Amino acid sequence: MKGLITGVLVTLGASVASWTIASDDIQAVMQSSFVTKNQASMERLQQDAVQSVCSAPRGMPLDNKTLTTLREERLNAVVLPADGQYLGDWQRGAEVAGNGRGLQSSDDPTKPNGGNCYACHQLAPDEVAYGTLGPSLTGYGARGQSEAMLQYTWTKLWDTHAYNLCSHMPRFGAQGILSEQQLKDVMAYLVDPASPVNQTEQ
Ligand code: HEC
Repeated sequence: MKGLITGVLVTLGASVASWTIASDDIQAVMQSSFVTKNQASMERLQQDAVQSVCSAPRGMPLDNKTLTTLREERLNAVVLPADGQYLGDWQRGAEVAGNGRGLQSSDDPTKPNGGNCYACHQLAPDEVAYGTLGPSLTGYGARGQSEAMLQYTWTKLWDTHAYNLCSHMPRFGAQGILSEQQLKDVMAYLVDPASPVNQTEQ
């Protein structure tokens, strides 16, 4: 039994070491394969602390304390709306949710970015083109508009890593992808009872 455990540990140690080498190789390949194009600069290849922890290969042991500390840091950095108002205009929010432009080399950096929510979520039930990487948000408004609900949703949009460290959702507020007003408008699109998101399919 002891031999087996030692064997497992040796194998694990070897795979961590080979990943470290492989990750250096990957960095080198990435650096030599990309060039800066307009707003898509090489700085984007540099991972922050969350991204590098979350890029570890499947099966590689992660330190729970590091994960918890990083998640708490993200949660503490969330900026709630300055005037305490979470909700804007759902009609403008619909445009933000449906707009997939922004931040790519071919996009005009002087125009506001979109949220591209439909790339990953179902929202209004009459929109047939949507991705399924994220859960369906159709009928989201049924959760109500309590302070706790609004703050949860705002935090999820501001920095999804505050709740789920390795989430695949963009950090719309923390990374300056959407403005405070755009976030308020998307919030209204999600929770306003008049929003198409909260209508049953015709
Ligand atoms: C690249 C994919 C992606 C995009 C783009 C994206 N999301 Fe998400 N979203 C996810 C995933 C995956 C989850 C579930 C896992 C998690 O919690 O991170 C999620 C979770 C959520 C949740 C929490 C759901 C719940 O049941 O509590 C909300 C709210 C949400 N997204 C709203 C949005 C809005 C609004 C937009 C656009 C401004 C958006 N998302 C854009 C992938 C995405």
